[in-house]
Amino acid sequence: MAGRVEGKVALISGGARGQGAEHARLLAEEGAAVVFGDILDEAGNELAETLADEGFAARYVHLDVTAPADWKAAAALCESEFGGLDIVVNNAGIVGSTASVSDETEAGWEQLIAVNQTGVLLGMKVAIEPMRRRGGGSIINTSSIWGLAGTEEYIGYQATKGAVRLMTKSAALTYAPDKIRVNAVLPGLVMTPMIDDEPEESIAELARTTPLGRGAEPREISYAVLYLASDESAFVTGIDLVVDGGFLAR
Ligand SMILES: NC(=O)c1ccc[n+]([C@@H]2O[C@H](COP(=O)([O-])OP(=O)(O)OC[C@H]3O[C@@H](n4cnc5c(N)ncnc54)[C@H](O)[C@@H]3O)[C@@H](O)[C@H]2O)c1
Repeated sequence: MAGRVEGKVALISGGARGQGAEHARLLAEEGAAVVFGDILDEAGNELAETLADEGFAARYVHLDVTAPADWKAAAALCESEFGGLDIVVNNAGIVGSTASVSDETEAGWEQLIAVNQTGVLLGMKVAIEPMRRRGGGSIINTSSIWGLAGTEEYIGYQATKGAVRLMTKSAALTYAPDKIRVNAVLPGLVMTPMIDDEPEESIAELARTTPLGRGAEPREISYAVLYLASDESAFVTGIDLVVDGGFLAR
């Protein structure tokens, strides 16, 4: 049986661990050739080896999302190695500074903007021409429930995740004539290494206040990415796909 993204080529940022690693695996399982990048080269290379051993078309590249040259090289690899680029998943992100408005520093703020926001801009930028050459494509940007709802402190993180939602809508409108669809995924709490550094009580509280009573497994977000990546979502562009166990339903 053909996979849901059979024959497509996907580029995923932040793919060495957490949700990005699971997106890479699921897209590969569903028939895509995957190129994934990260700054964690050891973990990235290990995953690429595992996927290759399992028979999947997978390559790891060093990709710092704040570096335009890394993006260009990663997109070029998709075309030279696999013949094109159909899917870009802008997944890489950091929690970074958790400060409030009063306590935020310029350095903390700028780091968050660079990775979570400029990183997404650059990822979309390198996708456009290769996708035009393919006659269309799908870009999936990772926002968060904290791109729609507010929470105390984390001013920089919320700024970037809110921005990603509207960057998504703007790009969706601009590139609709090129049949390039651009959508955002908004995860709630997801059990990845990202939350290991967060205070245990606040993670427990977030799980408790999630109507489904827990955080998501990464694969539960990957299925949303897979839907948006596949032709099943051919009429879907510019949306916020919330995958949050009901958190925002309150
Ligand atoms: N875990 C959650 O609860 C949660 C909730 C909502 C949204 N998100 C978002 O989901 C995305 C994935 O996060 P995760 O939960 O898998 O976290 P994670 O920390 O496990 O994974 C993030 C990945 O991004 C990579 N990364 C960081 N900076 C980078 C850079 N400059 N260039 C390239 N890669 C870089 C990291 O090395 C890591 O592999 C992020 O955008 C995050 O903000 C996470």
